[in-house]
Amino acid sequence: MNAQRPLVAVYPGSFDPVTRGHEDIARRCLRLADQVVVAVAHTATQKKATLFDVDDRVTMIGEVFADEPRIICTSFQGLLVDFCRSRGAQLVIRGLRAVSDFEYEFQMAQMNQELSDDLETVFLTPDVNYSFISASLVREVARLGGDVSAFVSPPVLRRLRTAFQETP
Ligand code: PNS
Repeated sequence: MNAQRPLVAVYPGSFDPVTRGHEDIARRCLRLADQVVVAVAHTATQKKATLFDVDDRVTMIGEVFADEPRIICTSFQGLLVDFCRSRGAQLVIRGLRAVSDFEYEFQMAQMNQELSDDLETVFLTPDVNYSFISASLVREVARLGGDVSAFVSPPVLRRLRTAFQETP
């Protein structure tokens, strides 16, 4: 930890809901940064209807990282670069699971670089066991009654069950 200027990384996303893949990325990020701010976007670049509202998503992420004081969670409105500036963040973290993620991620990273040259985007790859997990697939499997307990942490699993009215 650099006491003069702690290295702050923002890990932004929709997190609808946070998966074990997201968790793995945030925890890996602690190897690079002193503090990780998991930031739930009110305004995602790709329009999509969400299952959980922003406050629920922030609460779930807080529960998932309750053991790790260096990971905090909040939401943000507007441009990511403005939020990063307001938090004194130097890094934006994004996870890359597959080549198919690359085009969208590369475009966003370059746009953010144009908007704020002080910020660096760092791509992290999740553990291979999590590389096929996406929040959208988790939602779909849960909605159709499948077992998603391997893909999300218990606080998230509870809310998915409530959302889809399954018995535990
Ligand atoms: O998990 P997602 O949906 O892929 O995350 C996308 C997100 C939230 C990181 C992106 O949509 C974003 O940064 N939104 C904030 C608005 C913004 O800054 N848009 C321009 C990004 S180039």
